[in-house]
Amino acid sequence: MVRSNLNPTYLCRQAWFVAAFWSFLICGCGLDPEIEQPISYSHALHLTEAGMDCVECHIGIETQLKATLPSIKRCKACHSKSKTGSAEEAVVVEAVLSNTEIPWKRIYQVPDHVFFSHRRHVKSGKVSCTTCHGEVEKLTEPPVRPIVPILMSTCMECHDHKSISNDCLTCHV
Ligand code: HEC
Ligand code: HEC
Ligand code: HEC
Ligand code: HEC
Ligand code: HEC
Repeated sequence: MVRSNLNPTYLCRQAWFVAAFWSFLICGCGLDPEIEQPISYSHALHLTEAGMDCVECHIGIETQLKATLPSIKRCKACHSKSKTGSAEEAVVVEAVLSNTEIPWKRIYQVPDHVFFSHRRHVKSGKVSCTTCHGEVEKLTEPPVRPIVPILMSTCMECHDHKSISNDCLTCHV
């Protein structure tokens, strides 16, 4: 029998190849593109010098799915006037005074078909931020891409290790 080009496995492989080829072209050799934040914010400064805790800015970590990025209200207590005279801080003071949000960009993001809860991992699972996000307290500048990539295999390895379900439907909605 002559092999038909309409064989489903063959079509499937073709589709996969086309998708992989385009994502290679668009994303540049499979590396995520660099993300630039509106200002050069330093975690190190706020966590060590100002002695702050993650939850003061990422207010959702213990109670919701999303950690959230800080609203300008979180900066108000300390930056309603300039402390340092730096140009970066001037942008923050200006935003505080005009009550305008700084348009932070997301670095870590799972696709819509994945369910992930910070509350579950941070509060009940007691998994540290460092495990999934690296040493944030050492960052003097915003990361341009995830320090620890989010991969299905990383999720599953830890679940395996801690005897948490790895059924597809645990994570996929
Ligand atoms: C004073 C406020 C503040 C505190 C405190 C703070 N952060 Fe942040 N965080 C930010 C801001 C602003 C950004 C966005 C700019 C950037 O990426 O540096 C951010 C971004 C992040 C991101 C990247 C999120 C994404 O997907 O874009 C992670 C991860 C993060 N913070 C973790 C932490 C951890 C862990 C702690 C505690 C050890 C912490 N942060 C404490 C303000 C804060
Ligand atoms: C088990 C892994 C894991 C742990 C532990 C974890 N995160 Fe995340 N974090 C993620 C994933 C996955 C995303 C992307 C979630 C999404 O797309 O909804 C994310 C996203 C974020 C974001 C982006 C904004 C948002 O609204 O979600 C911030 C900020 C953040 N995490 C901060 C923290 C901080 C602070 C801690 C510790 C208190 C922490 N994370 C602990 C895996 C983790
Ligand atoms: C609890 C007080 C506090 C809060 C809240 C706070 N900061 Fe700061 N911030 C500081 C301190 C302390 C410094 C360092 C001042 C110095 O160097 O003398 C600083 C410095 C800065 C600088 C200047 C850094 C430099 O290199 O000159 C920027 C930019 C900044 N903060 C952004 C933010 C943003 C954005 C927020 C809100 C998400 C925020 N801060 C919230 C205390 C705070
Ligand atoms: C370092 C370990 C670790 C990593 C990495 C991790 N998890 Fe978990 N996960 C846990 C623990 C521990 C729990 C149980 C929390 C509890 O006690 O409620 C959990 C629970 C869950 C649950 C709820 C399970 C249930 O049976 O209800 C989901 C959904 C989940 N994780 C998704 C993810 C996803 C998606 C990722 C990757 C982005 C991920 N996890 C990465 C440790 C981890
Ligand atoms: C512990 C959580 C978890 C479990 C269990 C899990 N996945 Fe995933 N899966 C993820 C995450 C997180 C991603 C997104 C990873 C990324 O963006 O690279 C993902 C991505 C995927 C994708 C898309 C791949 C891509 O390249 O976009 C498929 C398909 C998939 N999973 C299928 C499955 C199947 C089938 C199972 C059951 C055998 C399963 N997953 C179990 C967390 C999980």
